[in-house]
Amino acid sequence: MCRAAIELFSSFLLFLIIHNAYSGFEFTNLKCISYNESFCSFEYCFLKAINRTYKYVSIKVKLHKVPIKKVKINFALYQRLNGYKPFLYNVTFDGCKYLSNMKGYPVATYIFNLFAPYSNINHSCPYDHDIIVEKVPFSHVSAQMSNILPFPKSSYAFFSEWYSDGIKRARIESYGTLT
Ligand SMILES: *[C@@H]1O[C@H](CO)[C@@H](O)[C@H](O)[C@H]1NC(C)=O
Ligand SMILES: *[C@@H]1O[C@H](CO)[C@@H](O)[C@H](O)[C@H]1NC(C)=O
Ligand SMILES: *[C@@H]1O[C@H](CO)[C@@H](O)[C@H](O)[C@H]1NC(C)=O
Ligand SMILES: *[C@@H]1O[C@H](CO)[C@@H](O)[C@H](O)[C@H]1NC(C)=O
Repeated sequence: MCRAAIELFSSFLLFLIIHNAYSGFEFTNLKCISYNESFCSFEYCFLKAINRTYKYVSIKVKLHKVPIKKVKINFALYQRLNGYKPFLYNVTFDGCKYLSNMKGYPVATYIFNLFAPYSNINHSCPYDHDIIVEKVPFSHVSAQMSNILPFPKSSYAFFSEWYSDGIKRARIESYGTLT
């Protein structure tokens, strides 16, 4: 009797967790900044809402000095409290090493999975072409985010900085809300 009650209670908790997990993540803003337009420039960088359920992110970066053989990425997550405060992740990794062996970089993999399936980025270095991230649905990002529980409902910012040959080349800022 007691055991059944506990089981019922734990299924209820599980339901709550799953239910919370699948509540939506919405991007609210996206900014792409090139630090040197003769090295790289953004042809586009936008959020688009087709209707209430289909909204996406698209980015195209033109690379003017190819091939690119060394890439370093810093990724930091912020939570909005009084202003944006660092939250949970601040990682820097070698992009080319990551691409040649994706094992052992759980945070990088997590970030990569957010957009790589919708891009032409998933191959080993060097890069000798423009980078296109095409129509990443908010629903995909939302589902990926729900894989790493528990993220409190809040507003977040993801800042990424892209380096090549040790020089800071571009910055992508995305802002969103988990509701
Ligand atoms: C911008 O990038 C170009 C091409 O790599 C380079 O020649 C130039 O010196 C850079 N400018 C600055 C201000 O770093
Ligand atoms: C939203 O737009 C997509 C793509 O055009 C379409 O497949 C989907 O059925 C639309 N959903 C609603 C609720 O209108
Ligand atoms: C992230 O880490 C780098 C290197 O450790 C540091 O320079 C930077 O200030 C950190 N950023 C945040 C937001 O904590
Ligand atoms: C990237 O490519 C590898 C090899 O083709 C594949 O196993 C992996 O699932 C891809 N990852 C993503 C996020 O698309």
